[in-house]
Amino acid sequence: MSIVSLGYVGISTSRLADWAEFGTKFLGLQIAGQSARTLSFRMDDLSQRFHFEEGADGIIQHLGWEVESGAALQSLAARLDAAGVRFQWGSAALAGQRRVRELIWMHDPAGNRVELYWGPEKADSPFTPGRNIAGFRTGPLGIGHVALTCDRIESTLPFYTELLGFGVSDYVLAPFKAYFMHVNPRHHSIALIETGQRGVHHLMMELMQFDDVGHAHDLAQLRKENIAVTLGRHSNDHMTSFYVKTPSEFMIEYGWGGLAIDPANWQPVELTDGPSIWGHNRSWLSEEAQAVLRVQLQHNADRGLRHPVKVLPGNHVLIKDC
Ligand SMILES: [Fe+2]
Repeated sequence: MSIVSLGYVGISTSRLADWAEFGTKFLGLQIAGQSARTLSFRMDDLSQRFHFEEGADGIIQHLGWEVESGAALQSLAARLDAAGVRFQWGSAALAGQRRVRELIWMHDPAGNRVELYWGPEKADSPFTPGRNIAGFRTGPLGIGHVALTCDRIESTLPFYTELLGFGVSDYVLAPFKAYFMHVNPRHHSIALIETGQRGVHHLMMELMQFDDVGHAHDLAQLRKENIAVTLGRHSNDHMTSFYVKTPSEFMIEYGWGGLAIDPANWQPVELTDGPSIWGHNRSWLSEEAQAVLRVQLQHNADRGLRHPVKVLPGNHVLIKDC
């Protein structure tokens, strides 16, 4: 697979100042650059991960996918060319703006601007989080995941799977249709949810330490930031998380303990346990949809659906049997 991770995201917003505050004081990002019309954030040792521009609210301007090298980008470009996909090479100025060596860009069938690049710029100073967190789980796993809503999944899916080589992790066919795809061991780096409308559903950031998620949960309540989805644990990537409303219309999923898969041997399955093992009550659901979810959660509780927690070396202590 030549795409290795989701490396950066560009978003337009009418609320740059609110994002500067929310991004640093709540999410724990670091401001990498700021102007009257732009704002960018770091989340690790790279120069830039998120870029906001003054504009219409909540529109994803671009999704940046990293490839290993200049040669890998050339071969992907050749593959796109052979498939008749129109793309353009980014100018040196654009590469400079994105803080990468080289990029090409195109639109997916849903109209999202997709950028493929190599050579992200390393920052010359250590990451300094905007609040006291132990950092984000990024590196080879990328920034997290993005969940996009779309008109029809069938018209967008082959672009990612057949052309760009994304692997399907799993999929949901009812009560709504969604596909989860990976490009590295992170269970999914992108999800497509069929809602009939193009948009951004949420961005997920994974914390290194569980308590940092807990503190954010407190902050969300103390600062009257709305919790859009209550604390819960997903049934596919086993992430313990909650979703918070942002200054834009999409949500941020703030989580810990995501599953790492082996992409070479992973078999896609249909998800039938519902989106969550427990919790994750969605604030926007109709009474009818809430009822469907309650039945699913009752069913999961009745059968004792559970999965081992996923911990990293150094952030757990084994309890002695006694
Ligand atoms: Fe998610």
